Amino acid sequence: PYDATPFLPKRGRLPAHRRAAADCRGCPLHREATGTVFGRGAPDARLMLVGEQPGDQEDREGVAFVGPAGRLLSRALRDAGIDEEGIYLTNAVKHFKFRRDEPRKRRIHKPPSLREMKACRPWLEAELRLVSPELVVTLGATAGRSLLGPSFRVGTDRGVPRPLTEIEDGADDGTDDGTDVRVLATVHPSAVLRARDGDRESMYEGLVADLRTAADALE
Ligand code: URA
Ligand code: SF4
Repeated sequence: PYDATPFLPKRGRLPAHRRAAADCRGCPLHREATGTVFGRGAPDARLMLVGEQPGDQEDREGVAFVGPAGRLLSRALRDAGIDEEGIYLTNAVKHFKFRRDEPRKRRIHKPPSLREMKACRPWLEAELRLVSPELVVTLGATAGRSLLGPSFRVGTDRGVPRPLTEIEDGADDGTDDGTDVRVLATVHPSAVLRARDGDRESMYEGLVADLRTAADALE
């Protein structure tokens, strides 16, 4: 099966994992994409945000959340009173999946499959273990399913912090770093961008409200 595990370093902190992830071939997504887009931000963040996968611009620059969705997310964080410098931002899947739109050959985002999400999860679990945030905000259905299971639905499960118990520790040292983590689900910033004109403002306000709930949960 597809699996990133053989590519994870045996030890080391985030920088070692970031370097190793650049060579991951745990699933076929590395073949078409430009490169791995690892998480970024404060290595000791209390709040971690998890998106779906890098977009076109993230793939070309190698940095998470620098494209249109990232800009909208930055604005929503500001509006929610969250300092982006203090948080850690990453994705459930670390390579860009896309199809080419002939004849213009624009690269169109494709959602990752469950197999690809599972393959890439060891990287996310390593980030969770190493950053050890108190709260994780999942953005959209992919991140929610990756952390809360396949029955996750943004529409019904968003906005409420809940404990995350299923995440494996990764380090077999008898501790269980994952158990204290809480998860709060919300919509993906790309969904706000894609929304019809009449819905966009309320979706944006919903995203900001959920981010405020996340900030309050850390107090
Ligand atoms: N969408 C995501 O989920 N992540 C990114 O890094 C960019 C867009
Ligand atoms: Fe590895 Fe994840 Fe990229 Fe697949 S998507 S090759 S598992 S880093």
